[in-house]
Amino acid sequence: MSKILITSALPYINGVPHLGHMVGCLLPSDVYARYMRMMGNEVLYICGTDEHGTASEVGALKENMPVEEYCNKYHERHKQTYKDFNLSFDYFGRSSSRQNQELTYHIFEKLDQNGFIEERTMKQIYCVDDQMFLADRYIVGTCPHCGYEKARGDQCENCTKVLEPTDLIDAKSTVSGSSNLEVRETKHLFLNLPKIEEKLVEWLKTKEAFWPDVAYSIAKKWLKEGLQPRCITRDLKWGFPVNKEGYEGKVFYVWFDAPIGYIGITKQWSDEKPEERNWRDWWLDAQDVRYVEFMGKDNVPYHSITFPATLIGTGENWTKVDYLKGFSYLIYEGGKFSKSEHRGVFAEDAVQEFPADYWRYWLMANAPESSDSSFTFESFVSTVNKDLNGVLGNFAQRVMKMTASKIGSHVPPRGDLEPQDREFIATLQEKTNNYLKYLNEMEFRKATAELRAAWVEGNNYISVTEPWMVIKENPQRAETILNICLNVIRIYAALCAPLMPQTSEKILAKFGLGIDSLPLLKNFDVEKELSALPAGHAFEAGEALFERITPEKLAELQQKYGGKNA
Ligand code: 2FM
Ligand code: ZN
Repeated sequence: MSKILITSALPYINGVPHLGHMVGCLLPSDVYARYMRMMGNEVLYICGTDEHGTASEVGALKENMPVEEYCNKYHERHKQTYKDFNLSFDYFGRSSSRQNQELTYHIFEKLDQNGFIEERTMKQIYCVDDQMFLADRYIVGTCPHCGYEKARGDQCENCTKVLEPTDLIDAKSTVSGSSNLEVRETKHLFLNLPKIEEKLVEWLKTKEAFWPDVAYSIAKKWLKEGLQPRCITRDLKWGFPVNKEGYEGKVFYVWFDAPIGYIGITKQWSDEKPEERNWRDWWLDAQDVRYVEFMGKDNVPYHSITFPATLIGTGENWTKVDYLKGFSYLIYEGGKFSKSEHRGVFAEDAVQEFPADYWRYWLMANAPESSDSSFTFESFVSTVNKDLNGVLGNFAQRVMKMTASKIGSHVPPRGDLEPQDREFIATLQEKTNNYLKYLNEMEFRKATAELRAAWVEGNNYISVTEPWMVIKENPQRAETILNICLNVIRIYAALCAPLMPQTSEKILAKFGLGIDSLPLLKNFDVEKELSALPAGHAFEAGEALFERITPEKLAELQQKYGGKNA
């Protein structure tokens, strides 16, 4: 048994997550965590809200509430949404926790003692009316190059030219709309990445053979472009106050304390039951821990360069990422998700429309792994109807209904196996092996395709063996076929568990079984598992596993969520 530490990038607290956030790190990390547990490993799966920074301050201002209250509100909302999606975090914490503050201070102090922190004075825009320094993207004005009136202080969206806020004509604060802006001098702390570079490169080299190409090449590109010292403090109110003399009134930059949050949240988890949990066993001088991180592509530089360099700079033996899985983006009906424009499906609405597994299956079958992928309701509805209803649901319902009506609601006895049974078992074993191999490699699209292929084999088997015909001439043979099929339904429950935990439970409930009755997926032996439900084991066909989505519902969804025909 190995110890597997899994983290999903901490979602920003402001705003509510949409399907793109779900597929970009949260859901795949859950599938992987569930898979790893079912492989018999000791798993610690950590996530939480990323709470600091201007975005939270601005969000709180807009909702006219203190920022702490705003964060409490959205933390609960995130937590509930992920619960509804059945994300199996061992702990869902907060980057603003006391534990994270202590760790952030500790890590900063070590970096400072080791000579990796330097002071610099810089010029920044200060808004007199907002009484705050504004990050570049919170300043808008007219682009001096193309005349676009809503250009941001860091870049013009229209002509893509990179800008300085002082380049803008008629610059305004996006916080209040005030144009009462001044350039003021301000002093900040920088993490001297060039000074840590040698050790960082040494460490990175040990990962070359293991990291996926995409992640490694992003890290290498950053190194090639040359590392620059990075500013780790901000002139804001909301954040951890900088614990250094002369920096009163300043806070650490959100990207400094957010990744430390993985450790801070583990400490939150461990503080709840200190007698049985110890965060150090996972993070500091930890033995035999394999650490896997999930994130969107844009987060890769922070996780492959900045955060490891931060940890290396302490001179302490912190656990650093062993495998980094990055995702591209999910496009919504050909455009961007936007809450304000009512475009896109947001996770909390999604689970009101359909059970989480419908979404989980579609998202994993279409995960944006090698390139962006596109969500459309047409594709979603067709996948639910064809794959879930037409293949898995159909097999389970057909077998159970047929057995119940021709034999009774129990598993019939099994006679000798025939060559077509053996062939089916071998094919199912092959699909299972592929599926587990792809999950192990975090190739989620491929894994989902193999799972579907395993369901298709069940349907093929029942079509060629025709138990409804055979029963007339040879009832014993029909019993054998149906015995196999019923046991295969249970096998599907086991295989589905990482991707579709609710479906798995639903299937097992039909046999009066619970999720704890499932075998490990390690060395999964189809032939052995085919004997798990003995003759006489009762079942109840009950309702279908999935509901078909009608064309009328499709049109309603498109209308409601700004889809194609809206
Ligand atoms: O991109 C994001 O959503 C960031 N909040 C991710 C932070 S990951 C980690 F550093 F906490
Ligand atoms: Zn422009």
